[in-house]
Amino acid sequence: MPSLSVSNPSSLARRSVLTLADLSREQIRTTLDLAKELKRDYTPFAHALQQRAVVLLFEKPSLRTRVSLEIGIAKLGGSCVYLDHQASPIGQRETIADYGRNLERWADALVCRVFRHETLVELQRWTKIPIVNALCDAHHPCQILADALTLEEHGLDLSSMRLAWLGDGNNVCHSLMQLTALFGGSMVVATPDDCRPDATWMAKTAELARATGARMEYTSDAKAIAGCDAVYTDAWISMGQSDSAAKRASMLPYQVTEATMRLAGANALFMHCLPAHRGEEVLDSVMDAPQSVVFDQAENRMHAQNALLLQLLNAR
Ligand code: CP
Ligand code: NVA
Repeated sequence: MPSLSVSNPSSLARRSVLTLADLSREQIRTTLDLAKELKRDYTPFAHALQQRAVVLLFEKPSLRTRVSLEIGIAKLGGSCVYLDHQASPIGQRETIADYGRNLERWADALVCRVFRHETLVELQRWTKIPIVNALCDAHHPCQILADALTLEEHGLDLSSMRLAWLGDGNNVCHSLMQLTALFGGSMVVATPDDCRPDATWMAKTAELARATGARMEYTSDAKAIAGCDAVYTDAWISMGQSDSAAKRASMLPYQVTEATMRLAGANALFMHCLPAHRGEEVLDSVMDAPQSVVFDQAENRMHAQNALLLQLLNAR
């Protein structure tokens, strides 16, 4: 593990992470290695964030992200303040700029779950402390760091794995695409034609993939997932999206069933960021099967986020 300092050009100190691609492949590698070290033993890190405070700012509900951050930061000796913005979006009571310029006077980092990616961009523009995206309409980088850790723990190589995404081309999908593109693996994204990933993020993924040789395939054919290492799905209707019977009906061919997993292959893992909507995007028989790693993913949220925060706060 290299020592991280402000003079180290690969250092993450005081940087913001709005998308996974704000990290280089090397920085993700360092983060995953540190997460593994933390997971083995927190004792040497018990005071690493002493006197440091993180503000958790949430416009949407959360179980995993909030709890893994609060417990994780406590394990590192730091403190956090949870700001519940579910009833009043950031920017309503005072401008986003003023909001950020207040918070940076007390806090060492802001971890934000917001509706609009632009809110994060605006916060970053006006504050000097790190901003971490804890999910927005377009990305969920903290989730994918945990998932990368989970994939490696289950014996997969990020540079040669073949991932399959089924369902809606959403925020989690965009971040997973960036992981694949950064490491040079391959990914098939099977969605209804009108639920494909956002064109902006497909273009960014293609740019990253050109540098690593990653192979991306976008299709409406749910059978294109045959022979993959992991099948990943997520809610058909994400927080903030409008629900409709038509969208749900169009998603049915992408439901993950036992037949899907047979098609994927005998050793394919099942992944889901959770919360799962059992009986919709995935059936109980898949969620609860031995190849399901969904609770490993949830557990790893804490270790991956802690590894990231230690570096952003220059505490490692
Ligand atoms: N996966 C995830 O982010 O879960 P929460 O919405 O419960 O935080
Ligand atoms: N795509 C889902 C992920 C929840 C963790 C959502 O944005 O609601």
